[in-house]
Amino acid sequence: MAENSESAFPEGFLWGGATAANQIEGAYNEGGRGLATSDFARWVPKEQRISGKATSWATYEMLDDMMAHPENYNFPKRRGIDFYHRYEEQLEALAGMGFTVFRTSISWSRIFPNGDDAEPNEEGLAFYDKVFDKCLELGMQPMVTLCHFDTPLHLATEYQGFLSRHTVDSFVRYAETVFTRYKDKVKYWLTFNEINSSLGNPYTCSGLVLHDDGTPNPYKEQWQAKYQCAHNQFVASALAVKKCHEIIPDAKIGNMTCRLENYAETSKPEDELQVLFEDHFNWFYSDVQAKGEYPYYMNRFFNDYGIKIQMEPGDEEILKEGTVDFLSISYYMTYIMRYKGSPVPKPNGSLVTDIKNQYLEVSEWGWPIDPIGFRITLNHIYDRYHLPIFIAENGLGAVDKVEADGTINDDYRIAYLQKHVEQLGEAIKDGVDVFGYAWWGPIDLISSGTSEMTKRYGFVYVDQDDFGNGTLALSKKKSYDYYKKVIASNGADLSID
Ligand code: BG6
Repeated sequence: MAENSESAFPEGFLWGGATAANQIEGAYNEGGRGLATSDFARWVPKEQRISGKATSWATYEMLDDMMAHPENYNFPKRRGIDFYHRYEEQLEALAGMGFTVFRTSISWSRIFPNGDDAEPNEEGLAFYDKVFDKCLELGMQPMVTLCHFDTPLHLATEYQGFLSRHTVDSFVRYAETVFTRYKDKVKYWLTFNEINSSLGNPYTCSGLVLHDDGTPNPYKEQWQAKYQCAHNQFVASALAVKKCHEIIPDAKIGNMTCRLENYAETSKPEDELQVLFEDHFNWFYSDVQAKGEYPYYMNRFFNDYGIKIQMEPGDEEILKEGTVDFLSISYYMTYIMRYKGSPVPKPNGSLVTDIKNQYLEVSEWGWPIDPIGFRITLNHIYDRYHLPIFIAENGLGAVDKVEADGTINDDYRIAYLQKHVEQLGEAIKDGVDVFGYAWWGPIDLISSGTSEMTKRYGFVYVDQDDFGNGTLALSKKKSYDYYKKVIASNGADLSID
């Protein structure tokens, strides 16, 4: 795209980056914070990771062992990047790129240490006051996710997370507390991060702890429990939407799904049918949150697999009344579908399909890089819902090399950013209503799926390794100035020097 060409992006478009409390804050046992499920996400050497399975899940048996022998484990999310103590310096580094939006989440167990305490923890509330004040002082709108993969541990182990309505009630009380406290500071909210990943990662996403059934992945086919969790999270989300509208009438509140765009492997109708099945499993979440009712296509799946969603009286009305104001997505890649003979969704929660797209490059973690897929998926979403869209995550995890002179030449990240922003601009020209773009991990942070520091997404480098060694000093990568230029030109100047 030529320099100074007219921008496709509307005036006031929000540019920035996204993080999550459990991946940046650290200080897991300070300030009155209680334990969360994410505190048991462990680092394991690459060769010991169970294929396709994140290191952030746990069973009751695993939790028992981790609690009894913490010395045998490395829990990087307990450290994060020490944002809890260094938020000022870190936010300033981000604002230096011209960010107008900063997405983070509130750690529920910082506010209610057990998730369901009688009173909120004032020290936790005061911490976020300081963070949001600093964001606003730096010209960044905070966009806040209520729950980003960190259910309070007590609710997970005692109630199996969102399998219980007690967790729904606790969540709504927590949401009401933070809406009331930050009503003058936070005008953009999201309910659950990647709510659709509850199918693959129920511990991470729904706080659902199960017993080990002896297989490498005990979560494989617990459809009943997983869909009940999803239902309870839909209700919790809808109730939070209603509370948000009551308490902060000028706020906007959205959902957040991991957008899974699928291509058929061949032109065989059966492959296309598999695409349809997979699409249904993914649209299901945003259909309920945006349209306020269960879509027709889930009935057959529920009947065929004996899944019975337990609804309480009034649930259907709650879903109808608590539809979101906008949709937000994470977009990282696209997938290839081959007919499997049944509509059963991918069981293991892995984002990476085993079928390679011969036309796409992959990241060092095997994630296909597909900027055109970004445009396609945005058109599909807008066509389905006609609601504004916020890009809550997009980015590239890579191994960065610090040169002898301290520079980090991450041209691969610049190329990724350029191509995705270009396609985002195309989608906007197509008529898709997108109001903001947040790069995932604009400052290096702990990986969600693999709990490592080595997988870096940032424009800002953080001097820390997988074991917590390092000074935590910040430095700018080459991509820092590139994103700054993109933002300054409102997306018009994507030229690479
Ligand atoms: C999304 C999550 O799934 O992807 C983030 O919302 C996560 O929390 C991001 O960090 C990238 O995944 P990973 O495993 O590379 O950190």
